[in-house]
Amino acid sequence: MGSETGWDAMGKAAEAAIAYRRAIAAAETTPTVGYGEMLAAFAAPLPDKGAEASAILEELVAKATPGIRASTAPRFYGWVIGNSHPTGVAADWLTAAWGQNAGNLLAAPAASAVEAVAAGWLLDLLGLPGDASMGFVTGATIANFVCLAAARSEVLRRAGWDVEADGLFGAPVINVLIGADAHATVFSGLKFLGLGAQRVTTIATDAAGRMRPDALAEALFVAKGPTIVIAQAGQINTGASDPFAEIVPLARAADAWLHVDGAFGLWAQASPSLRHLTAGVEGADSWATDGHKWLQTPYDCGYAIVRDTAAHQRAMAFSASYLPPAADSEREPSAFVPELSRRARGFATWAMIRQFGRSGIAEMVQRCCAVAGRIGERLEATPGITIVAPIELNQLLLRFGNDDAATLATIAQIQEDAVLFAGASSWRGEWVMRISVSSSATTLEDADITADAIAAAWEKVSARLS
Ligand SMILES: Cc1ncc(COP(=O)(O)O)c(C=O)c1O
Repeated sequence: MGSETGWDAMGKAAEAAIAYRRAIAAAETTPTVGYGEMLAAFAAPLPDKGAEASAILEELVAKATPGIRASTAPRFYGWVIGNSHPTGVAADWLTAAWGQNAGNLLAAPAASAVEAVAAGWLLDLLGLPGDASMGFVTGATIANFVCLAAARSEVLRRAGWDVEADGLFGAPVINVLIGADAHATVFSGLKFLGLGAQRVTTIATDAAGRMRPDALAEALFVAKGPTIVIAQAGQINTGASDPFAEIVPLARAADAWLHVDGAFGLWAQASPSLRHLTAGVEGADSWATDGHKWLQTPYDCGYAIVRDTAAHQRAMAFSASYLPPAADSEREPSAFVPELSRRARGFATWAMIRQFGRSGIAEMVQRCCAVAGRIGERLEATPGITIVAPIELNQLLLRFGNDDAATLATIAQIQEDAVLFAGASSWRGEWVMRISVSSSATTLEDADITADAIAAAWEKVSARLS
């Protein structure tokens, strides 16, 4: 039959979304039906005819709800996931409804202007150079890719090579120096750019995963020619940031490009009381970070930030006869990202910064870190529970019975109890439970509920094991 307009479906979607978020805000983290069951629920022959819009929405809600992971619940600590804050979601609904293609100024004037303003606000919040350029991308993976493309362009330009025109065949060799505890997705960027995920020089790190400046100095001394150094703010397990105040001058002296993967850790910059953790990071050449983690925007949203605007544009911009070029005073949104047609991510970013303001963002980031600290404090004296690494930011690593099997069993018990969600990670060759506090919905009261639930789960597991 096919819907004429879909207006009803939009209303139903809003109702269902609000009901879901109201319930989840008060709920424990419900266990989720897995992929296999979801596949069975959705599997059907290709429909020949269309259906009525509100019936489609009802079917979608009924089928999908059991498989919706409760990532927006206050005690969801898996994978460094923000809250998809309702204000950001609302802005995102409008983004979809307005149907703007944010690739071009002429096609999307409001979206383009909001990006320009939000970019300025983000640079201010994160304490980065006010004249750096920014691309609104899907997340930190692609932000790292964009920044490294700008890096590749500039270090080769300095060596007399135009990589955009001539590619990499016959180009001067680029040295890539990267910390031993870098995030896996940075290597995706290196793969995409022809720099090779394995063709890197690994720089030794300390116990918390921070790049060691002495090891970097040695590697820079050996490296000859075009060089890119990849550092990070916020190691995915420990939350530790590289010592930028020491690394930046080393990279500068070697004429190397310094890139920082700061998917979540860069947000320490937004808090006056945490900024010391990332001291000196503003001296780098490029930075990748996420909106969908600590800024709480809905997925997908990340920012690729580059000090050298010309290098950023060289790596990303393109032209077509049917797209009029922006004036000098205008910011062309597609000049800083890999794609042309895309969603207008600036609206949700703008709405989230308006929602919290500078002080609210600082308070939220600090609260997340305080929650991680409080859970740690509450558990540190519990026999059999070990805090594996000092709590630097918002990440907490716990090990149970100093044993892999006991740790994995406790994680399974916690997931079954469903008072909170936390997953497993491997750190220094051993399994740990990782708690990542990055949701604006999490409070200090949640810290106490969490600590009690973890202690109770461990009591059950240790009783079973003894
Ligand atoms: C340090 C770090 N870098 C990069 C990424 C990839 O970010 P995204 O999943 O937003 O692409 C993550 C994700 O958790 C991260 O923690």
